[in-house]
Amino acid sequence: MKLPYAEPFKIKMVEPIKKSTKEQRSQWIKEADYNLFNLSSDKVFIDLLTDSGTGAMSQFQWSEMMLGDESYAGSSSFLKLKETVQRITGFEYFLPTHQGRAAENVLFSALIKEGDIVPGNSHFDTTKGHIEYRKAKAIDCTIKEAFDTAIQHPFKGNIDVDALEKVFKKYPNEKIPMVIVTITCNTAGGQPVSMENIKAVSSLCKQYKIPLYFDAARFAENAYFIKTREDGYQNKTIKQIVKEFFSYGEGMTISAKKDGLVNMGGFIALNNEEVFKKATVFNIMYEGFITYGGLNGRDMGALAVGLDEATEVDYLESRVGQVAFLGSKLVEYGIPVQQPFGGHAIFVDATKFLPNIPREQYTAQTLAIELYIEGGIRGVEIGTILADRDPETRENRYPALESVRLAIPRRTYTNNHMEYIAAVLKNVFDKKSEITTGYKIVEEAPIMRHFTVKLEKI
Ligand code: F0G
Repeated sequence: MKLPYAEPFKIKMVEPIKKSTKEQRSQWIKEADYNLFNLSSDKVFIDLLTDSGTGAMSQFQWSEMMLGDESYAGSSSFLKLKETVQRITGFEYFLPTHQGRAAENVLFSALIKEGDIVPGNSHFDTTKGHIEYRKAKAIDCTIKEAFDTAIQHPFKGNIDVDALEKVFKKYPNEKIPMVIVTITCNTAGGQPVSMENIKAVSSLCKQYKIPLYFDAARFAENAYFIKTREDGYQNKTIKQIVKEFFSYGEGMTISAKKDGLVNMGGFIALNNEEVFKKATVFNIMYEGFITYGGLNGRDMGALAVGLDEATEVDYLESRVGQVAFLGSKLVEYGIPVQQPFGGHAIFVDATKFLPNIPREQYTAQTLAIELYIEGGIRGVEIGTILADRDPETRENRYPALESVRLAIPRRTYTNNHMEYIAAVLKNVFDKKSEITTGYKIVEEAPIMRHFTVKLEKI
């Protein structure tokens, strides 16, 4: 018999999680103003809010924690991380930051000004937030296939190169400080960008003399999809693929809380010395001295090891495989999800799941609340609430996809947990016709409202 798949690790330490009743959860979510971010984690059974900083570290990362050098300047942990970043990304210059949005803040302070245009593939919300905060504009050039969850396309994170060129032609070159390619594209469902597309975008950027940067939070998962889906890469190692795609850009920001396999951390890596020098000033102002950037020495050591572990194929096979295991169960139950499955999460198509809830009543948020009440699962709305209001008209923005994201923390849950999650979704799906009213907003922040929004049941 063909042997089934089994994870390339065993578990050394466990963390208990608590079950609760539907009655308790109905009460708790009401007290939390129907915002899942307001729930304390002991009220959640399986936490799929994010894959960011929620994974398990390896014994090699934990042992690195004991070796952390906490010197203010020039610590050995910094040098270890710098060597690893240079070796894995190929970029020469490196600045640590405390997380991804801090890297964005530092780099954008150096490069983006009022009135600028920053094209990309569905910028992540903090990225867009940092662009809009500077009164610049993010333009989404993702291919249209990304916005139809039923279309099978191996690289739904790709940039529409013609749309990008239209942006380059419409605006003067000095108004476009950079293009940002997010790998994998979180907003579109953890969807990868192909090497071919990265190459095409890079050559167009060179032609128009516009720098290409990566938002590389899930770069290793992106490399795994290139290896398994793109011609000519089957026999390359993940590390070779990573080196190749970064060679087409001028730099990157990363939230290391994802493919760095750590609970906290981020960095900027660059080729351009002038940009590095400018960014250095902001790094010191916002993050800390350039050899720690808001991180402990021990965090930098653990990150150095994490970057090496995350770029090994055995790890990625188990990681991406577990997400696909959940996705396949949901498809088996007839539940509409983004296909093919992404690298870090399953995105449930809320408008297809709950056709009775109009988008003005926040369809995806309604579904996320139902999943919590049914089984204590905490997912996250990636829809109208997250999309915020248009900065000029202050009207709600309705994004092309209205989803609930079930993000899977790395090396944390077992496939039994995946079966449980799938059963919870099936139960809600079976009674979807009874769910006929959504929610209204009673209080919201002017930007990034999803974290603190208060809702009431209609
Ligand atoms: N870029 C991408 C693609 C991200 O997914 C995130 C964070 C960031 C930047 C910002 O990084 O959180 O370290 O400041 N994404 C998390 C998520 C929060 O749940 O998807 P950060």
